[in-house]
Amino acid sequence: MSTETIAKVPVHVSMIMDGNGRWAKERGKERVYGHFEGVESVRACVEAAIETGVRYLSIYAFSEENWNRPQEEVDALMGLMVKAMAAEMDSLDKNGVRFMVIGNRERLAPELNAVIDSCMERTSGNSTLTLAVLLSYSGRWDVLQAAKKMAAMIIENPEKADEVMNMGQEDFSMLLSTSGIPDPDLIVRTSGECRLSNYLLWQGAYSELLFVDTLWPDFRKEEFRMAVESYAKRDRRYGKVK
Ligand code: IPE
Ligand code: IPE
Ligand code: MG
Repeated sequence: MSTETIAKVPVHVSMIMDGNGRWAKERGKERVYGHFEGVESVRACVEAAIETGVRYLSIYAFSEENWNRPQEEVDALMGLMVKAMAAEMDSLDKNGVRFMVIGNRERLAPELNAVIDSCMERTSGNSTLTLAVLLSYSGRWDVLQAAKKMAAMIIENPEKADEVMNMGQEDFSMLLSTSGIPDPDLIVRTSGECRLSNYLLWQGAYSELLFVDTLWPDFRKEEFRMAVESYAKRDRRYGKVK
């Protein structure tokens, strides 16, 4: 990495991991084969994030809308999550990774929730990298659940209604499921699709977006480093004049 890149390493990189199905299809295999291979890309990106000094890596693993896929594929993906989390727990912990899952966990199977809890508990003291897996997540769900928390605050403490109604954006952010995680500096989507698909809608308000043609199972360390390099060249203005 050039010295310029090192100075501008994004604190939080977020990945919309897309293209597993097409990757498998290109090889004449079932879609699930692409999901299996995609786990290797997650491992590579975790390593590359640590090596480049990225502090937060979030990955869109399953959207709220993905529940509408054929049951067979949903089951395969959920089974893969259980297996991958159980298998990776040791090395994540050893590498100083704090693991977390963000999303509507009420929809997840007890077996999956159990492995998530155990992995989160085990790695909660780590601080080299925070890995957030967005699972059963959607940006609209997130904003809505935060708005419901706001409403509940007023119902439970009517005398605090004025205070709640005067809440600013920073305080509202703390009601989102990503509370404690800085907004993503860079959101990368693989597979050539140029859309957000209901991802981090509030948090991504000022994220730099990078759309690459690489299919997720082919997105490895080199591609991650190239994304960080490309971010370093961006000029973030936040509406101001420079
Ligand atoms: C991304 O790959 C994984 C998930 C959305 C769970 P896809 O399964 O969307 O693969 P394509 O886009 O159909 O190729
Ligand atoms: C977005 O990918 C969700 C994840 C990467 C988990 P999709 O493949 O589900 O998105 P669409 O359907 O092409 O918008
Ligand atoms: Mg897709």
